[in-house]
Amino acid sequence: MAESSEDRKTTYDVYDYVFSLEEQLRTVETEKQLTGARLAQMQIEMERMRKELSEMRAVPLVMGTIHEVLPDKTVVVKNSNGLEFLVKAAQEVEVELEPGKRVAMNQRNLLITKVLPENKDWRVNAMEVIERPKVTFEHIGGLGKEINELHEAVILPLTNPEGFEQLGIEPPNGVLLHGPPGTGKTMLAKAVANRSNATFISLSGSDLVRKYIGEGAKLVRDVFRLAKEKKPAIIFIDEIDAVGSHRFATANGDREVQRTMMQLLSEMDGFHELKGVKVIGATNRLDMLDPALLRPGRFDRQIAIPLPDKDGRRKIFEIHVGRMALDSTVDMAEIAELTEGFTGAEIKSVCTEAGMFALRQNNKRVKLKDFNDAVQKIIRQPDEAQPEHRMFA
Ligand SMILES: Nc1ncnc2c1ncn2[C@@H]1O[C@H](COP(=O)(O)OP(=O)(O)OP(=O)(O)O)[C@@H](O)[C@H]1O
Ligand SMILES: [Mg+2]
Repeated sequence: MAESSEDRKTTYDVYDYVFSLEEQLRTVETEKQLTGARLAQMQIEMERMRKELSEMRAVPLVMGTIHEVLPDKTVVVKNSNGLEFLVKAAQEVEVELEPGKRVAMNQRNLLITKVLPENKDWRVNAMEVIERPKVTFEHIGGLGKEINELHEAVILPLTNPEGFEQLGIEPPNGVLLHGPPGTGKTMLAKAVANRSNATFISLSGSDLVRKYIGEGAKLVRDVFRLAKEKKPAIIFIDEIDAVGSHRFATANGDREVQRTMMQLLSEMDGFHELKGVKVIGATNRLDMLDPALLRPGRFDRQIAIPLPDKDGRRKIFEIHVGRMALDSTVDMAEIAELTEGFTGAEIKSVCTEAGMFALRQNNKRVKLKDFNDAVQKIIRQPDEAQPEHRMFA
């Protein structure tokens, strides 16, 4: 039976309609995928925030030092503000209470819940002091531009202060290294100290606020005092966001953290005495920092430490395979190509893992395949050391 032109028109209409429906379906599917990806990302972010929140909610303990033990087992405890309290110890505390011992007390009822282990000079533990670190720029792959900047901002002012004086220019007091975890910030700071023949004094911002409760400001003062004694010296403050987050600058922020931060700012402002002392801060969260920290005279030079590019990755591989026995199949450029988005720390683990693969198979030399397997392993099972950037990628 012949199709009338009317019929044909309808058929075309139906085709058109189906076609447009198909197109709509495709759009909706793409949107669905995008939304799914966004949802997954938000869930990760939510999990992170939930963790952060529960950390913030944890009730902190109050610290103090025992001054006197009375016959009825009550003790006089003095806190770092000089206030004295007459308190008792919780039943589970079995350590003998003696004058001079440091204790932690419940914030609400000031019951002693813990006696801290004896530590003659606990501040020694709070900072790491290295006469002259052994890490050199030779151990660092890539980052040439960043190293040059550090040369100008830190090394030259320490090794040739006269040059700056003659020209009448003020080198920066502090330099801030920021970038993803595992990209070599700590290494760089150590290598700078090595090149400047300087003492390396490092402390961690998160230790300052978590471990040395009530002593943060004092510790900062001691660190600067020690640096002036040992100059030329580099003070390295890792995780500086823990003390210098703008979150704490608000009225109801943590007073103790604020005091630590104020101490840091005032030490850095006394720049006349800071000749021969430079401060290097490091953070993964530049966005969290209180702008007060970044003002002139403080961390006024900020250097971004990025993920290594292909060439950088190749150099980092070459450094870490240094003493490994490699098979002739191994081509560093090829592996560098495969590891886009990897940090220096991850590249180091790839090398170790590749070595492990070879070892398990009783091979004398590490093959290209071992490296490929190692790369796959690192991609598949991110451990804690794996930075968040991959989770969000
Ligand atoms: N550019 C690099 N060249 C060679 N090795 C590197 C490089 N970057 C990182 N590594 C390796 O990764 C390890 C960790 O680096 P480092 O501690 O300096 O990172 P970081 O940026 O300070 O990380 P975080 O922010 O977690 O403190 C180093 O000990 C080194 O073995
Ligand atoms: Mg570090």
